[in-house]
Amino acid sequence: MTIVLGIESSCDETGIGIVRIESDGALTLLADEVASSVDQHARFGGVVPEVASRAHLEALVPSVTRAFEAAALELSDVDAIAVTCGPGLAGALLVGVSAAKAYAAALNVPLYGANHLPGHVAADTLEHGPLPSPCLALLVSGGHTQLLRVDDLATKITEVGSTIDDAAGEAYDKVARILGLPYPGGPPIDKAARRGNPDAIRFPRGLTGPRDAKYDFSFSGLKTAVARWVEAREGQEIPVDDVAASFQEAVADVLTAKAVRAATELGIDTMVVSGGVAANSRLSTLAAARCAEAGITLRVPRPRLCTDNGAMIAALGAHLVKAQVRPSSLDLSANPGLPV
Ligand code: KG4
Ligand code: ZN
Repeated sequence: MTIVLGIESSCDETGIGIVRIESDGALTLLADEVASSVDQHARFGGVVPEVASRAHLEALVPSVTRAFEAAALELSDVDAIAVTCGPGLAGALLVGVSAAKAYAAALNVPLYGANHLPGHVAADTLEHGPLPSPCLALLVSGGHTQLLRVDDLATKITEVGSTIDDAAGEAYDKVARILGLPYPGGPPIDKAARRGNPDAIRFPRGLTGPRDAKYDFSFSGLKTAVARWVEAREGQEIPVDDVAASFQEAVADVLTAKAVRAATELGIDTMVVSGGVAANSRLSTLAAARCAEAGITLRVPRPRLCTDNGAMIAALGAHLVKAQVRPSSLDLSANPGLPV
Protein backbone atom coordinates (compact mmCIF):
# COMPACT_ATOMS: atom_id res chain seq x y z
CA MET A 1 0.00 0.00 0.00
CA THR A 2 1.24 3.44 -0.92
CA ILE A 3 0.13 6.77 0.53
CA VAL A 4 0.15 9.75 -1.86
CA LEU A 5 -0.19 13.35 -0.68
CA GLY A 6 -1.63 15.78 -3.26
CA ILE A 7 -1.20 19.55 -3.11
CA GLU A 8 -3.20 21.95 -5.31
CA SER A 9 -2.78 25.75 -5.35
CA SER A 10 -3.17 26.82 -8.99
CA CYS A 11 -5.99 29.31 -8.48
CA ASP A 12 -8.06 30.29 -5.43
CA GLU A 13 -8.42 26.90 -3.74
CA THR A 14 -5.79 25.44 -1.43
CA GLY A 15 -6.44 21.72 -1.78
CA ILE A 16 -4.82 18.91 0.17
CA GLY A 17 -5.71 15.32 -0.70
CA ILE A 18 -4.50 11.99 0.59
CA VAL A 19 -5.02 8.86 -1.51
CA ARG A 20 -4.02 5.28 -0.73
CA ILE A 21 -3.05 2.91 -3.54
CA GLU A 22 -4.38 -0.47 -2.41
CA SER A 23 -2.50 -3.70 -3.06
CA ASP A 24 -4.84 -4.45 -6.00
CA GLY A 25 -4.14 -0.98 -7.49
CA ALA A 26 -7.49 0.54 -6.50
CA LEU A 27 -7.45 4.10 -5.13
CA THR A 28 -9.01 5.03 -1.80
CA LEU A 29 -9.58 8.68 -0.92
CA LEU A 30 -8.57 9.25 2.71
CA ALA A 31 -8.73 13.04 2.97
CA ASP A 32 -9.86 15.99 0.86
CA GLU A 33 -9.35 19.37 2.53
CA VAL A 34 -10.15 22.52 0.57
CA ALA A 35 -9.63 26.07 1.87
CA SER A 36 -11.05 28.61 -0.56
CA SER A 37 -10.19 32.30 -0.80
CA VAL A 38 -13.19 32.88 -3.10
CA ASP A 39 -14.85 35.24 -0.59
CA GLN A 40 -11.81 37.53 -0.66
CA HIS A 41 -12.06 37.82 -4.48
CA ALA A 42 -15.84 38.22 -4.72
CA ARG A 43 -15.89 42.01 -4.43
CA PHE A 44 -13.37 42.27 -7.31
CA GLY A 45 -15.50 40.04 -9.56
CA GLY A 46 -12.60 37.69 -10.26
CA VAL A 47 -9.50 36.14 -8.72
CA VAL A 48 -6.84 38.65 -7.62
CA PRO A 49 -3.49 36.82 -7.99
CA GLU A 50 -1.69 38.47 -5.04
CA VAL A 51 -4.62 37.84 -2.74
CA ALA A 52 -4.75 34.20 -3.86
CA SER A 53 -0.99 33.66 -3.22
CA ARG A 54 -1.20 35.11 0.28
CA ALA A 55 -4.26 33.01 1.09
CA HIS A 56 -2.44 29.84 -0.05
CA LEU A 57 0.50 30.75 2.16
CA GLU A 58 -1.78 31.07 5.18
CA ALA A 59 -3.96 28.05 4.45
CA LEU A 60 -1.48 25.44 3.25
CA VAL A 61 0.11 24.09 6.43
CA PRO A 62 -3.13 24.16 8.50
CA SER A 63 -4.87 22.32 5.61
CA VAL A 64 -2.16 19.66 5.58
CA THR A 65 -2.60 19.24 9.34
CA ARG A 66 -6.38 18.89 8.97
CA ALA A 67 -6.00 16.37 6.14
CA PHE A 68 -3.71 14.14 8.20
CA GLU A 69 -6.09 14.36 11.15
CA ALA A 70 -9.01 13.37 8.92
CA ALA A 71 -7.07 10.42 7.49
CA ALA A 72 -5.73 9.41 10.95
CA LEU A 73 -2.23 9.33 9.49
CA GLU A 74 1.14 10.90 10.29
CA LEU A 75 3.28 12.85 7.84
CA SER A 76 5.82 10.03 8.11
CA ASP A 77 3.26 7.66 6.51
CA VAL A 78 3.57 9.49 3.16
CA ASP A 79 5.26 7.53 0.35
CA ALA A 80 5.00 10.09 -2.48
CA ILE A 81 3.95 13.70 -3.03
CA ALA A 82 2.23 15.18 -6.08
CA VAL A 83 1.83 18.90 -6.59
CA THR A 84 0.17 20.98 -9.28
CA CYS A 85 3.02 22.64 -11.20
CA GLY A 86 0.77 24.22 -13.87
CA PRO A 87 -1.17 25.61 -15.55
CA GLY A 88 -2.38 28.36 -13.24
CA LEU A 89 -1.41 31.61 -11.54
CA ALA A 90 2.37 31.85 -11.18
CA GLY A 91 2.49 33.09 -7.59
CA ALA A 92 -0.26 30.74 -6.45
CA LEU A 93 1.43 27.71 -8.04
CA LEU A 94 4.75 28.65 -6.45
CA VAL A 95 3.34 28.38 -2.94
CA GLY A 96 2.21 24.79 -3.52
CA VAL A 97 5.34 23.77 -5.41
CA SER A 98 7.65 25.23 -2.75
CA ALA A 99 5.73 23.54 0.05
CA ALA A 100 5.71 20.21 -1.79
CA LYS A 101 9.46 20.40 -2.33
CA ALA A 102 9.99 21.13 1.36
CA TYR A 103 7.81 18.18 2.43
CA ALA A 104 9.47 15.86 -0.12
CA ALA A 105 12.96 16.84 1.02
CA ALA A 106 12.10 16.60 4.72
CA LEU A 107 10.34 13.23 4.35
CA ASN A 108 12.78 11.92 1.73
CA VAL A 109 10.00 10.74 -0.61
CA PRO A 110 9.61 11.14 -4.40
CA LEU A 111 8.02 14.32 -5.73
CA TYR A 112 5.76 14.40 -8.81
CA GLY A 113 4.89 17.57 -10.71
CA ALA A 114 1.22 17.14 -11.69
CA ASN A 115 -0.57 18.85 -14.55
CA HIS A 116 -3.80 20.42 -13.28
CA LEU A 117 -5.77 19.51 -16.44
CA PRO A 118 -5.43 15.70 -16.34
CA GLY A 119 -5.81 16.16 -12.58
CA HIS A 120 -9.44 17.15 -13.15
CA VAL A 121 -9.93 13.93 -15.14
CA ALA A 122 -8.13 11.83 -12.50
CA ALA A 123 -10.68 13.05 -9.92
CA ASP A 124 -13.23 10.81 -11.59
CA THR A 125 -11.17 7.67 -10.94
CA LEU A 126 -11.63 8.27 -7.19
CA GLU A 127 -15.36 7.93 -7.67
CA HIS A 128 -15.83 5.55 -10.60
CA GLY A 129 -12.61 3.51 -10.69
CA PRO A 130 -10.12 3.07 -13.55
CA LEU A 131 -10.84 4.78 -16.86
CA PRO A 132 -11.29 2.64 -19.96
CA SER A 133 -8.79 3.39 -22.73
CA PRO A 134 -9.38 5.46 -24.70
CA CYS A 135 -11.91 7.84 -23.21
CA LEU A 136 -12.84 11.41 -24.06
CA ALA A 137 -12.63 14.08 -21.36
CA LEU A 138 -14.62 17.28 -21.54
CA LEU A 139 -12.80 19.60 -19.18
CA VAL A 140 -14.81 22.69 -18.34
CA SER A 141 -13.54 25.08 -15.68
CA GLY A 142 -13.00 28.77 -15.00
CA GLY A 143 -9.68 28.74 -16.82
CA HIS A 144 -10.07 25.92 -19.36
CA THR A 145 -12.44 24.38 -21.83
CA GLN A 146 -10.97 21.42 -23.62
CA LEU A 147 -11.73 18.10 -25.20
CA LEU A 148 -9.01 15.58 -24.42
CA ARG A 149 -8.49 12.10 -25.75
CA VAL A 150 -7.15 10.12 -22.79
CA ASP A 151 -5.34 6.91 -23.68
CA ASP A 152 -3.49 6.81 -20.37
CA LEU A 153 -3.90 9.37 -17.60
CA ALA A 154 -0.23 9.16 -16.64
CA THR A 155 1.40 9.02 -20.05
CA LYS A 156 -0.83 9.70 -23.05
CA ILE A 157 -3.30 12.56 -23.35
CA THR A 158 -4.00 14.41 -26.59
CA GLU A 159 -5.92 17.65 -27.03
CA VAL A 160 -8.75 17.22 -29.52
CA GLY A 161 -10.26 20.69 -29.18
CA SER A 162 -10.26 23.74 -26.96
CA THR A 163 -11.80 27.18 -26.56
CA ILE A 164 -10.38 29.83 -28.85
CA ASP A 165 -11.34 32.62 -26.42
CA ASP A 166 -13.15 32.44 -23.06
CA ALA A 167 -13.43 29.31 -20.94
CA ALA A 168 -16.98 28.15 -20.20
CA GLY A 169 -16.65 29.06 -16.51
CA GLU A 170 -15.27 32.46 -17.45
CA ALA A 171 -18.39 33.05 -19.58
CA TYR A 172 -20.55 32.11 -16.57
CA ASP A 173 -18.63 34.53 -14.36
CA LYS A 174 -18.87 37.39 -16.90
CA VAL A 175 -22.58 36.84 -17.61
CA ALA A 176 -23.28 36.74 -13.88
CA ARG A 177 -21.66 40.14 -13.59
CA ILE A 178 -23.82 41.49 -16.43
CA LEU A 179 -26.92 40.17 -14.65
CA GLY A 180 -25.86 41.56 -11.27
CA LEU A 181 -25.33 38.09 -9.78
CA PRO A 182 -22.41 37.35 -7.42
CA TYR A 183 -19.00 35.86 -8.23
CA PRO A 184 -18.34 33.05 -9.02
CA GLY A 185 -21.20 33.11 -11.46
CA GLY A 186 -21.79 29.40 -12.08
CA PRO A 187 -23.85 28.51 -9.01
CA PRO A 188 -26.15 31.62 -9.02
CA ILE A 189 -26.80 31.32 -12.78
CA ASP A 190 -27.51 27.60 -12.36
CA LYS A 191 -30.01 28.47 -9.61
CA ALA A 192 -31.69 31.33 -11.51
CA ALA A 193 -31.88 29.20 -14.66
CA ARG A 194 -34.00 26.60 -12.87
CA ARG A 195 -36.74 29.23 -12.54
CA GLY A 196 -36.36 30.54 -16.10
CA ASN A 197 -37.35 29.49 -19.61
CA PRO A 198 -34.35 28.16 -21.62
CA ASP A 199 -36.17 28.90 -24.88
CA ALA A 200 -37.00 32.53 -24.01
CA ILE A 201 -34.05 33.96 -25.98
CA ARG A 202 -32.13 32.21 -28.74
CA PHE A 203 -28.51 33.14 -27.96
CA PRO A 204 -25.81 32.25 -30.54
CA ARG A 205 -24.03 28.89 -30.46
CA GLY A 206 -20.36 29.72 -31.19
CA LEU A 207 -18.33 27.80 -33.82
CA THR A 208 -21.17 25.54 -34.89
CA GLY A 209 -21.17 26.54 -38.57
CA PRO A 210 -20.25 23.97 -41.23
CA ARG A 211 -16.85 25.56 -41.85
CA ASP A 212 -15.91 26.06 -38.19
CA ALA A 213 -13.23 24.01 -36.42
CA LYS A 214 -14.97 20.79 -35.56
CA TYR A 215 -14.10 20.39 -31.89
CA ASP A 216 -13.11 23.92 -30.80
CA PHE A 217 -15.30 26.19 -28.70
CA SER A 218 -15.96 29.92 -28.52
CA PHE A 219 -17.89 31.65 -25.75
CA SER A 220 -16.95 35.28 -26.12
CA GLY A 221 -19.63 35.95 -28.79
CA LEU A 222 -22.26 34.45 -26.50
CA LYS A 223 -21.17 36.65 -23.60
CA THR A 224 -21.31 39.73 -25.88
CA ALA A 225 -24.76 38.72 -27.14
CA VAL A 226 -26.04 38.55 -23.55
CA ALA A 227 -24.47 41.95 -22.80
CA ARG A 228 -26.09 43.51 -25.92
CA TRP A 229 -29.48 41.97 -25.09
CA VAL A 230 -29.37 43.43 -21.58
CA GLU A 231 -28.02 46.84 -22.76
CA ALA A 232 -30.83 47.13 -25.32
CA ARG A 233 -33.32 46.95 -22.43
CA GLU A 234 -31.74 49.64 -20.26
CA GLY A 235 -34.25 51.11 -17.83
CA GLN A 236 -36.54 48.09 -18.19
CA GLU A 237 -36.77 45.19 -15.79
CA ILE A 238 -34.48 42.37 -16.99
CA PRO A 239 -35.97 38.87 -16.80
CA VAL A 240 -32.83 37.53 -15.09
CA ASP A 241 -34.11 33.96 -14.76
CA ASP A 242 -34.96 33.71 -18.47
CA VAL A 243 -31.65 35.26 -19.57
CA ALA A 244 -29.76 32.89 -17.23
CA ALA A 245 -31.69 29.86 -18.50
CA SER A 246 -31.25 30.83 -22.16
CA PHE A 247 -27.52 31.49 -21.70
CA GLN A 248 -27.05 28.23 -19.81
CA GLU A 249 -28.91 26.34 -22.53
CA ALA A 250 -26.58 27.74 -25.20
CA VAL A 251 -23.47 26.71 -23.21
CA ALA A 252 -24.76 23.21 -22.42
CA ASP A 253 -25.96 22.73 -26.00
CA VAL A 254 -22.61 23.57 -27.61
CA LEU A 255 -20.48 21.68 -25.08
CA THR A 256 -22.50 18.47 -25.24
CA ALA A 257 -23.09 18.57 -29.01
CA LYS A 258 -19.37 18.94 -29.77
CA ALA A 259 -18.26 16.43 -27.14
CA VAL A 260 -20.70 13.77 -28.33
CA ARG A 261 -19.76 14.45 -31.95
CA ALA A 262 -16.05 14.09 -31.12
CA ALA A 263 -16.60 10.84 -29.21
CA THR A 264 -18.70 9.39 -32.03
CA GLU A 265 -16.32 10.42 -34.82
CA LEU A 266 -13.25 9.24 -32.90
CA GLY A 267 -14.91 5.95 -31.98
CA ILE A 268 -14.66 6.55 -28.22
CA ASP A 269 -17.45 5.12 -26.08
CA THR A 270 -16.76 6.65 -22.64
CA MET A 271 -16.92 10.35 -21.78
CA VAL A 272 -15.80 12.05 -18.56
CA VAL A 273 -17.02 15.56 -17.83
CA SER A 274 -15.00 17.37 -15.16
CA GLY A 275 -13.92 20.82 -13.94
CA GLY A 276 -16.02 23.37 -12.05
CA VAL A 277 -18.66 23.78 -14.78
CA ALA A 278 -19.32 20.01 -14.70
CA ALA A 279 -21.19 20.80 -11.47
CA ASN A 280 -23.80 22.54 -13.66
CA SER A 281 -27.18 20.85 -13.48
CA ARG A 282 -28.23 21.48 -17.09
CA LEU A 283 -24.86 20.39 -18.50
CA SER A 284 -25.00 17.05 -16.72
CA THR A 285 -28.65 16.43 -17.65
CA LEU A 286 -28.13 17.26 -21.32
CA ALA A 287 -24.85 15.32 -21.46
CA ALA A 288 -26.62 12.29 -19.95
CA ALA A 289 -29.45 12.47 -22.52
CA ARG A 290 -27.17 12.96 -25.53
CA CYS A 291 -24.65 10.32 -24.43
CA ALA A 292 -27.43 7.80 -23.87
CA GLU A 293 -28.78 8.54 -27.36
CA ALA A 294 -25.32 8.04 -28.88
CA GLY A 295 -24.51 4.89 -26.86
CA ILE A 296 -21.75 6.62 -24.88
CA THR A 297 -21.12 5.87 -21.20
CA LEU A 298 -21.01 9.14 -19.26
CA ARG A 299 -18.99 9.66 -16.08
CA VAL A 300 -19.31 12.85 -14.03
CA PRO A 301 -17.61 13.04 -10.62
CA ARG A 302 -19.59 14.49 -7.71
CA PRO A 303 -19.52 18.33 -7.63
CA ARG A 304 -17.00 18.44 -4.78
CA LEU A 305 -14.51 16.54 -6.99
CA CYS A 306 -15.33 18.66 -10.07
CA THR A 307 -14.13 21.97 -8.64
CA ASP A 308 -10.46 22.45 -7.74
CA ASN A 309 -9.23 20.17 -4.95
CA GLY A 310 -6.16 18.32 -3.73
CA ALA A 311 -7.72 14.86 -4.00
CA MET A 312 -7.57 15.04 -7.80
CA ILE A 313 -3.85 15.83 -7.63
CA ALA A 314 -3.25 12.98 -5.17
CA ALA A 315 -5.20 10.73 -7.58
CA LEU A 316 -3.11 11.83 -10.57
CA GLY A 317 0.01 11.33 -8.43
CA ALA A 318 -1.17 7.80 -7.66
CA HIS A 319 -1.54 7.11 -11.39
CA LEU A 320 1.98 8.47 -12.00
CA VAL A 321 3.35 6.22 -9.23
CA LYS A 322 1.49 3.19 -10.63
CA ALA A 323 2.76 3.90 -14.17
CA GLN A 324 6.32 4.14 -12.76
CA VAL A 325 6.80 7.58 -14.26
CA ARG A 326 10.10 9.12 -13.19
CA PRO A 327 9.65 11.53 -10.27
CA SER A 328 10.59 15.21 -10.64
CA SER A 329 13.77 16.53 -9.11
CA LEU A 330 13.76 19.14 -6.36
CA ASP A 331 14.40 21.68 -9.15
CA LEU A 332 10.72 21.40 -10.09
CA SER A 333 9.32 24.82 -10.86
CA ALA A 334 5.87 26.25 -11.53
CA ASN A 335 4.85 26.59 -15.17
CA PRO A 336 1.81 28.90 -15.46
CA GLY A 337 1.28 28.03 -19.14
CA LEU A 338 1.88 24.27 -18.89
CA PRO A 339 0.10 22.56 -21.81
CA VAL A 340 -1.62 19.16 -21.56
O1 KG4 B 1 -12.47 23.94 -11.81
P1 KG4 B 1 -12.72 25.19 -11.08
O2 KG4 B 1 -13.08 25.10 -9.61
O3 KG4 B 1 -11.49 26.15 -11.15
C1 KG4 B 1 -10.71 26.31 -12.29
O4 KG4 B 1 -9.81 25.47 -12.52
O5 KG4 B 1 -11.00 27.30 -13.01
O6 KG4 B 1 -13.87 25.97 -11.87
C2 KG4 B 1 -14.41 27.19 -11.44
C3 KG4 B 1 -15.48 27.64 -12.42
C4 KG4 B 1 -16.02 29.04 -12.14
O7 KG4 B 1 -15.97 29.78 -13.34
C5 KG4 B 1 -17.46 28.79 -11.70
O8 KG4 B 1 -18.35 29.84 -12.06
C6 KG4 B 1 -17.79 27.51 -12.43
O9 KG4 B 1 -16.61 26.75 -12.36
N1 KG4 B 1 -18.90 26.77 -11.80
C7 KG4 B 1 -20.09 26.52 -12.41
C8 KG4 B 1 -20.90 25.87 -11.45
N2 KG4 B 1 -20.18 25.73 -10.29
C9 KG4 B 1 -18.96 26.29 -10.53
N3 KG4 B 1 -20.51 26.81 -13.64
C10 KG4 B 1 -21.76 26.46 -13.96
N4 KG4 B 1 -22.62 25.86 -13.11
C11 KG4 B 1 -22.24 25.53 -11.85
N5 KG4 B 1 -23.10 24.93 -11.03
ZN1 ZN C 1 -9.36 23.58 -12.20
